[in-house]
Amino acid sequence: MSVSTGPIIDQSSDPDDHSSNPSHGRHFAEIVDARLSRRSVLAGGMFAAASFLTTSIAGAPTALAAPRGRGRGPGTDGASLLGYEAVPLGYGDEVVVPPGYSATPFLPWGTPILGSFPDFRPGTPPIVPGGNTAEDQAQQIGMHHDGMHFFPLDRGGREGSSRGLLAVNQEYTDEFYLHTGTYIEDYTEVAKGEYTAEMVLKSQNAHGVSVVEVKRAGRKWKVERSALNRRITANTEMRFAGPATGNELVRTGADPEGTSPRGTINNCSHGVTPWDTYLTCEENFNGYFAIPEGSTFDPETTALHERYGVGGDRFNWGLHDARFVVTPDGAHEPNRFGWVVEIDPFDPASTPVKRTALGRLKHEGAFVQTARDGRVVVYMGDDQVNEYVYKFVSAATWEASHSAGTSPLDEGTLYVARFDDDGSGTWLPLVHGQGPLTAENGFADQGEVLVKTRLAADAVGATPMDRPEWTTVDPITGTVYLTLTNNAGRETPNAPNPRVQNRWGQIVRWEEAGGDHTATTFAWELFLLAGPPESGATIEGQDAFGSPDGLWADPDGRIWIQTDGTQPLAANDQMLAADPTTVDENGVPEIKRFFTGVIGCEVTGVITTPDQRTMFVNIQHPGEDGGSTWPQTDEFDTPRSATVVITKDDGGVIGT
Ligand code: FEO
Ligand code: CA
Ligand code: CA
Ligand code: CA
Repeated sequence: MSVSTGPIIDQSSDPDDHSSNPSHGRHFAEIVDARLSRRSVLAGGMFAAASFLTTSIAGAPTALAAPRGRGRGPGTDGASLLGYEAVPLGYGDEVVVPPGYSATPFLPWGTPILGSFPDFRPGTPPIVPGGNTAEDQAQQIGMHHDGMHFFPLDRGGREGSSRGLLAVNQEYTDEFYLHTGTYIEDYTEVAKGEYTAEMVLKSQNAHGVSVVEVKRAGRKWKVERSALNRRITANTEMRFAGPATGNELVRTGADPEGTSPRGTINNCSHGVTPWDTYLTCEENFNGYFAIPEGSTFDPETTALHERYGVGGDRFNWGLHDARFVVTPDGAHEPNRFGWVVEIDPFDPASTPVKRTALGRLKHEGAFVQTARDGRVVVYMGDDQVNEYVYKFVSAATWEASHSAGTSPLDEGTLYVARFDDDGSGTWLPLVHGQGPLTAENGFADQGEVLVKTRLAADAVGATPMDRPEWTTVDPITGTVYLTLTNNAGRETPNAPNPRVQNRWGQIVRWEEAGGDHTATTFAWELFLLAGPPESGATIEGQDAFGSPDGLWADPDGRIWIQTDGTQPLAANDQMLAADPTTVDENGVPEIKRFFTGVIGCEVTGVITTPDQRTMFVNIQHPGEDGGSTWPQTDEFDTPRSATVVITKDDGGVIGT
């Protein structure tokens, strides 16, 4: 049986919309009966919002007691957490924030941070003479900013909110902007004949992670020419840790021990550990590989590659880098991607570590929560239609692991979620030798369980979901929130996905049993259904949004929601905040739009400084279908992904 090269995936289409899960598990949308209609789930289910909030938030207004209304300012009894004036849907080529706030583009793709600090110049020579080379790109901020964190340079001290390290994921490239500076439809296909090794290397150098020291100067932030600045790319030397290290399935000709993978790609969302390291997550790694037409693989390899959708050569890397060409005697390189990678942002000489215990999937993010007993728990989504939600629980407390000279992320239990009809849920362990995860079923050891995480999750009966994206934990209640961005292929409506061809997505939340994040059972409910009112959304018209993706609960419990995809009234992507303490008797939380993005972008990545007085938000792929020149921070019209710095003009907390 052979895996064919398959059609080239259009750069502007979202590969996550296509299922590669053939398992017959009951879909999340099919297991919830009418009892869990949106109203009953939110107002009267076993996990009723009101009682949940009453018992969970000491001293906070209960859901039903909090009157809902617009224009309540901070300082009012039962005040909303959302003190700003909502902004309207956006259509322009500028970012918009509420009155009294300012937004400034920062760190656009191509900003020099290292070495000879080469200025941004669009295009790649010789296509564009004088454009930035691959070497230049390795010394500059990469493309397509995504998940991000701000690490105070003095770790919480006096300067913590005015100076720090920004770690920014650079998810992928728009090759037409990278190499020509202008929009060209179907570029990777039309340019195949002129692709050079330099172009491939420049693309690889635009991927990965940027770590950059930034400093506040008045209201503005600037880049420091710091020794801590670093670019991690598709070629950076890394190492494996955890049970899949050295596994036969991760060995290659270049790395026969299977211990030293190279590079990280399609770095989507992220996580932050309690010991101040950065986790970067490899999402759509599969599309970077070319599979020559007519190649024949053994059945195990075929099954594994098909389950992860390997192939497509979406960025033309296979034309000039044999590492990204899958052959029968070189079929393991794709298995070396799809991991969570730990980076120490404070040590630019450190080797990034692929933490295999966290599983191999199209990792969207890795939200780290410290459990009451000091163990670490990592919540993770696998972003593709009909994929699963995972969590990892460390075996020891992180402090005990560190005292012993080990990582808590290398030893523990990976679980996958099953959501049951009655609002309960179970975390199913993916442990070799337990249940169906045996050698007879194709899982020789724990390393194989992890390389084949999706297949293991199929085997234990996990619940297929509508594209799991980010997770976050409300720091006040401990409630876990999860965005499910959309599932346009859906044909059968039901309670949690009541719309045919669900274009809009939803947010699910759950409470772990006993409020213990290491628990193996949980109680879940829908937090909201996104979309315009006519779609059956549980949000009000003025709050309308679709395709929730980025998600972050700030220290006050505001739930920041970012979008990537179809918006009501064909508006630009946006960011809103929800106040979960204001869920009303109809199950509707107060939501206010805070930010609207530019033409063709998604809005992704959100963090504040510890004092919450500066917020960083990313604009990714502006003008991906043409039509944008944002941010225009210099003489060039090439649209560039960038961070946006948001401050409140009175110096106050963002969101108030
Ligand atoms: Fe990289 Fe699923 O967004
Ligand atoms: Ca995303
Ligand atoms: Ca997305
Ligand atoms: Ca994206």
